[in-house]
Amino acid sequence: MSVTILVGGQWGDEGKGKVIDLLADTVDMVIRSQGGNNAGHTVVTGGKEHRFHLIPSGILYPQTTCIIGHGVVVDPKAFLQELDELQNGGIPAENLVISERAHMVMPYHPVLDQLGEEMRGDDRLGTTWRGIGPAYEDKVRRIGFRIGDLQKPAFLEKKLRFVLRLKNESLTRLYGADPFNEREILDEYLGYAERIDPYIRDIYPLIQDALNANRRILLEGAQGVMLDIDLGTYPYVTSSSPTAGGACTGSGIPPSRITRTVGVFKAYTTRVGYGPFPTELTDPLGDQLREVGAEYGTTTGRARRVGWFDAAVSRYAVATNGIDAMVLTKVDVLDEFHTLKICTGYMSKGEYWDHPMANISHLKHVEPIYEEFPGWMSPTRECRRYEDLPQACRAYIERIGELCGASVNVVSVGPDREHTLVRTPLLD
Ligand code: IMP
Repeated sequence: MSVTILVGGQWGDEGKGKVIDLLADTVDMVIRSQGGNNAGHTVVTGGKEHRFHLIPSGILYPQTTCIIGHGVVVDPKAFLQELDELQNGGIPAENLVISERAHMVMPYHPVLDQLGEEMRGDDRLGTTWRGIGPAYEDKVRRIGFRIGDLQKPAFLEKKLRFVLRLKNESLTRLYGADPFNEREILDEYLGYAERIDPYIRDIYPLIQDALNANRRILLEGAQGVMLDIDLGTYPYVTSSSPTAGGACTGSGIPPSRITRTVGVFKAYTTRVGYGPFPTELTDPLGDQLREVGAEYGTTTGRARRVGWFDAAVSRYAVATNGIDAMVLTKVDVLDEFHTLKICTGYMSKGEYWDHPMANISHLKHVEPIYEEFPGWMSPTRECRRYEDLPQACRAYIERIGELCGASVNVVSVGPDREHTLVRTPLLD
């Protein structure tokens, strides 16, 4: 049996989709455990690009059961669009299951997300406007709707009457926006119910059976540790727990059954949205990194902020998630840089920090301590084994592992499967 958790070790967009795809055909079950369609995973197989937001990337393998766990918030409209795209592309998605406990993004959530951001003005978070935060707020406030509610029209109607009073009150009084119409929402969601119904399941027996039968399970993380609601750069975070702990609660798999936690890290750092970013490069070198790395968001198309690899952040991710294997992606993006830097820690008010502090106004002004490395100045895309990489490149990679306290088991030098160099297999 193996239960592997895969988490992003930075601020998301580390290239998890690629690693999930690499592992998905060797596992029996892939489970998404948090986030929603704010996530974007790009998987390239056989030269064909697939973009996933909600559906686990394992869907490309018909023998792999793909579960949307109850820690995820599902926008039914976005879900069906993604399903249509897959099915039109010849992927039947018969292996897909959604937990009846997963909460739904309702039509007022994206509107409230956007209005809330506008109201924050200069303090806005830079959310994806997908309604993710407001959907999680309602879950915690216990006025959320769950996917299973689609199978109970009378309950849905009664509850919506109550909830919509609260929502319309905020929309009209607080924001001066238009209210939502109960009948229209009901018609829209009951319309979705018919199509989503075959996918809705109680995932508890499915997962227990898989655990008891010693199946190989992969828990697919979205976003990254620094966007975690507790561990991240609050309030510049997402509203879920993209951590190993979140993977357990979002799927119902106990921590004692986890056999490995894999962390995916980019060979440099990126972040979308606002908030502190100690190693950010806002100069022409940063522009070069963004262009070479094609650092534009999968979900929103926004230009990502870019910077040097931050080992203080990554070490914190390794330690708080129990990461025992690191995957380092987009190493080839650094091929043309004369000098590279890795941040090993920060100085803040005369004090040394080996991890990001909770106080974000301090984190915003820390002085990163850098180690410099000579660039390898040669293409790495054609390398097929770790040993083929230039010596300077291996030195850079190995120093990252050393500073973070975990070994870099896999290195990626391009988007395709053949660009993945395995030093030590991720799964036994
Ligand atoms: P939200 O998740 O839409 O509420 O956005 C909150 C923060 O998380 C913003 O800074 C987003 O840009 C960021 N975020 C959400 N999902 C992703 C992702 O998949 N990759 C990178 N950043 C993300």
